[in-house]
Amino acid sequence: MKQQVGIEAITIAVPRRYIDLGDLARARGVDPAKFTQGLGGLEMAVAEPGEDSAALAASAAAQLIRSRDVDPARIGMLVVGTETGVDHSKAVASYVQGMLGFPRTMRTYDCQHACYGGTAALNAVSEWIASGAGADRVGIVICTDIARYGLNTAGEPTQGAGAVAMLISSSPELLALDLGVAGTFSMDVHDFWRPLGRREAVVDGHYSIQCYLDAVSGAYRGWRARALARDLIRAGAIPSEQLARIAYHVPFCKMAKKAHAQLRRCDLEDRAGKPLDAAAEAEEAPRAAASFEAQVAPSLGLSARVGNVYTGSLYLSLASLLKRDAAALAGKRIGLFSYGSGCVSEFFSGVVGPRAAQVISGAGLDGVLSERERIGIEEYERINNLPPDQPLGGTPPPGAFRYAGTKEFRRVYVGNAKDS
Ligand code: HMG
Repeated sequence: MKQQVGIEAITIAVPRRYIDLGDLARARGVDPAKFTQGLGGLEMAVAEPGEDSAALAASAAAQLIRSRDVDPARIGMLVVGTETGVDHSKAVASYVQGMLGFPRTMRTYDCQHACYGGTAALNAVSEWIASGAGADRVGIVICTDIARYGLNTAGEPTQGAGAVAMLISSSPELLALDLGVAGTFSMDVHDFWRPLGRREAVVDGHYSIQCYLDAVSGAYRGWRARALARDLIRAGAIPSEQLARIAYHVPFCKMAKKAHAQLRRCDLEDRAGKPLDAAAEAEEAPRAAASFEAQVAPSLGLSARVGNVYTGSLYLSLASLLKRDAAALAGKRIGLFSYGSGCVSEFFSGVVGPRAAQVISGAGLDGVLSERERIGIEEYERINNLPPDQPLGGTPPPGAFRYAGTKEFRRVYVGNAKDS
């Protein structure tokens, strides 16, 4: 049998505080239904400057090591996907290596292409293992970001922050990847970007949605052609319906609904050989809604309460999905769509492992949100206006890390990888 490669374990770290999106809407004089129904969010993580992308990454990775009792000597590669790193040159991966005391024999680096950086990292590590270059070692991928658009902007309710760490190995207990089947789509666009020196992203919001949807069509068609050629799906039946679930990159939850409708449209229009007419559109609308509820909604639980985590958003969806449905999905193929503005995208797939429910139950995902503190909008605005190098102060809880200040241009972190 061909060697399997994929995700063995997944853990998450989020900021300790969050706001309720209804509170934000009221403070901005907006109907709360716009944020909760129109965008699909409930809560949004608020990162303090001390909870930067390196601190969150180390916190998530510390949990990963604990959850699988990983011997650090077995880790050959640590790749971080981020677009909100803490230095123009030094990799977040190096900071994490230092905080966790990882061995010096590892390859460490960061990957950047907006929200796609985590998928680039996942590809690099998976292919390293599949090629044999890993020589029985495992790799770690961390997706970590602070999504920040600024106060009183259209993007404000679509901020968020967090880190997702994944153990990649040839024992893919959670998800065995269908390597070599991915479809990719990219183009040079200015939909969302962050010019050098700016803390907040610049975004052409409605255009970014259109770019994302174009990317869904391009990447999905590429995957579908390869999946059909390899008999992963059958010709005849609607291809996307043969995937037990589909996890999307989730800048805000409603985007996943739009994406899924677009994906189905590709299947239906390609089969008909023409655009849907009014009658077909009317027939499709309730089917698309039902299909979204069955195939996509189960992956949105964490995103609705954390917000956009840029590189981590797709993997937050995956964690959410497995946390809820892993037992039912054992042995089943799911689809994943990764999008990074600018833009590049990938549709790929994998098969959920037979022990996925057991493994995900050891990831501590339940505690991640229950330990957070809800803050009001005044406090959120105060935090938002703090300088980026303001340390958090105090001692982080066991198992977590914080930025503690800069000495002679060197960022200093405090924390402890052990949870007790
Ligand atoms: P907006 O213009 O303020 O909102 O900003 P809108 O007017 O488009 O309304 C949003 C939705 O709420 C609409 O639903 C309204 O109808 C509905 P839709 O028609 O789209 O289905 N609505 C209501 N619903 C119920 N009750 C009401 C009500 N009022 C309105 N009273 C926008 C929205 C997303 C553009 C903005 O938040 C934004 O710019 N966000 C940031 C950009 C973004 O997330 N883009 C997504 C695609 S790009 C991407 O995913 C990459 C990214 O993650 C970055 C990276 O790659 O690094 C962003």
